[in-house]
Amino acid sequence: RKPDPCIVVIFGASGDLTKRKLLPALYHLEQAGLLPKEISVVGVARRPLEATFAPDMKEGIIAGGGVDEKEAALAPFIEHVQYHAMNFDDDAGYAGLNELLSSIDKKNGTKGNRLFYLATAPEYFADIINALGKHEMNKPAKDKPGSWVRTIVEKPFGHDLESARKLNDDVNKVFDEDQVFRIDHYLGKETVQNILVFRFANGIFENVWNRNYIDHVEITAAESIGIEGRGPFYETAGALRDVVQNHVMELLSFVAMEPPVSFEASAVRAEKVKVWKSIQPIHPADTVRGQYGPSTVDGKQVVGYRQEDRVHPRSQTETYAALRLEIENWRWAGVPFYIRAGKRMAKRVTEITITFKQPPLSIFKDAEGKGAEGIRSNVVSMRIQPDEGITLRFGAKLPGPNMSISPVNMNFSYAESFGASSANGYERLLLDAMLGDATLFAHRDGVEATWALITPILEDWAKNPIKDLPNYPAGTWGPPASDAMLKADGRKWRKL
Ligand code: BG6
Repeated sequence: RKPDPCIVVIFGASGDLTKRKLLPALYHLEQAGLLPKEISVVGVARRPLEATFAPDMKEGIIAGGGVDEKEAALAPFIEHVQYHAMNFDDDAGYAGLNELLSSIDKKNGTKGNRLFYLATAPEYFADIINALGKHEMNKPAKDKPGSWVRTIVEKPFGHDLESARKLNDDVNKVFDEDQVFRIDHYLGKETVQNILVFRFANGIFENVWNRNYIDHVEITAAESIGIEGRGPFYETAGALRDVVQNHVMELLSFVAMEPPVSFEASAVRAEKVKVWKSIQPIHPADTVRGQYGPSTVDGKQVVGYRQEDRVHPRSQTETYAALRLEIENWRWAGVPFYIRAGKRMAKRVTEITITFKQPPLSIFKDAEGKGAEGIRSNVVSMRIQPDEGITLRFGAKLPGPNMSISPVNMNFSYAESFGASSANGYERLLLDAMLGDATLFAHRDGVEATWALITPILEDWAKNPIKDLPNYPAGTWGPPASDAMLKADGRKWRKL
């Protein structure tokens, strides 16, 4: 099924996201034959970019890769990309935008369907939403029965529990919940969706996916990049807000949730929220924060966080966060989940590691002649990115006259099985929003549930600044306290 003809209106279109992710994603969808002919894109921002917007987007699409005959293949798509300059608080601007959209409907047959994409700085979200309501752009036009209006809201969705609630209230005053698509691009990743397939489309894993068999779970979201010139944003965010409250919590919910009754929005969302609500308040002692200092990475000198452009020289913002948490339900009681996320780590890797309990008794010896203590646990690791795949580690008999055991791996690689993919997560989500399918989007309750978990930690950290920052050199695996947290439980982070 293809989506209906529609206009995608991107607020904040002069930002990086539009050029690097959104337009390339729309173009890939078009090239894959997944969009109807009648699709138009209108970029909206304050600066007068009428002359440069379309060529700039073209550049972004080419840089994103997957464009064969650059100019020729792109031309018809770019023809339907336009720009509208306006201030987000200017009534005349909305009236002008509305006129532009109606004229596109007439010319390009987009039938009154609108997908508004809020990609501005978050302080404008409420103004734009209110203005769309005031100008009656939040509902299908009366002369276009059967048409639809939807809105995608980019992260950050709130700054803490209170602001997230307020934003939800603002949004729901103007849009019904089924018109709202809160995006988390991790849910658009194939490897993330595959967590559910791995668990619920196979007969062998789900039986052991519980506290009887699993010792602990690790989720790592490590980035090697720094803050990439986003100082002012990152100073108000930090690792906990930037990736843990959203991306990592989404991963956690997929790993831990009960089987939903179907793969439909309400069924999946209900199970996710149950997971987050079962997480016990996280004690400050079960949290670690870090900030990177200057160092040499790959032979290149990199600055510390406090030396980054437009960052306070004594900033307390964390560029690394690790948590230990427990999900108090029948499936998971007593199983620790260890989470870590950081910038300027030793390498870029997002991985979920499930470590299983040891067999009750060991009758074999390892290569050093040791018994159970020498035998490594079974591990399922789901590599979200890069080198996407899943590995199962188990013990095998070392060839030779002794019954010695050595860990070996069974590997599934996406690239080997399915070929390389240029999808960035946004393709699938844009398509789903155009189709009106909210299964892979965050929901009001879920956003509030994750903020409810994170906010007390943020408050505790804000009240208790720490002296030893920076506490990890760029290009390493974070502060020593993070290793110490696992060591206290007799465990170690898996080497990635
Ligand atoms: C974004 C964060 O949401 O996710 C960035 O704001 C982060 O700081 C990015 O770099 C990570 O996304 P990905 O897809 O590169 O893992």
